[in-house]
Amino acid sequence: MRLFFALKPDPQTCLDIERWRERTLPPLDRPVPSHNLHMTLVFLGEVKERQLERLTEDVQRIRGVPFSMVFDELGYFPKPQVLWIGPKETPDAATRLARDLNRTCKRLGLRSEKRKFQAHLTIARRCATPPPASTEPPDFPMEFDSFVLFESTNTRGGVLYRAVNEWPLK
Ligand code: 2AM
Repeated sequence: MRLFFALKPDPQTCLDIERWRERTLPPLDRPVPSHNLHMTLVFLGEVKERQLERLTEDVQRIRGVPFSMVFDELGYFPKPQVLWIGPKETPDAATRLARDLNRTCKRLGLRSEKRKFQAHLTIARRCATPPPASTEPPDFPMEFDSFVLFESTNTRGGVLYRAVNEWPLK
């Protein structure tokens, strides 16, 4: 199964992001549907059932704390052609959580991220050009008190994300 760890904004915030995107940006080829919006912490790729059991045990030992972030910046990654929103300031608790998850994955021989963690939430894919200067910058405060392990499945109707497990931050 194809897995990744992520933070899930609440449904109302996802709808607010969708409305803001429609209001401020030109039509997009591949907007991420509001129910799929998430912020990836670590992308694992293919994981076997046996590896998932070990991972679940080890992740339980990670001690994270709840945190809030304001998604107040619109950005663009030219290589994957991804449009995103992110926080100008990332709280230490978020960076630590991504780091600890990454270390756990690495220790278990799973795929880990070598790049520096950059908090972002993808709002559209396959954007060939950067967005025009937005007339209205994003301003979405979010609070996170848990993180989620998602399974990603490609279907005819598009990609489906299913929560496999969720851990509280406390
Ligand atoms: P992104 O939002 O930064 O693009 C689920 O597929 C999530 O995992 C995606 O939202 C994507 O994060 C991330 N992801 C997918 N494929 C990836 C890859 N090959 N390397 C790193 N992250 C990936």
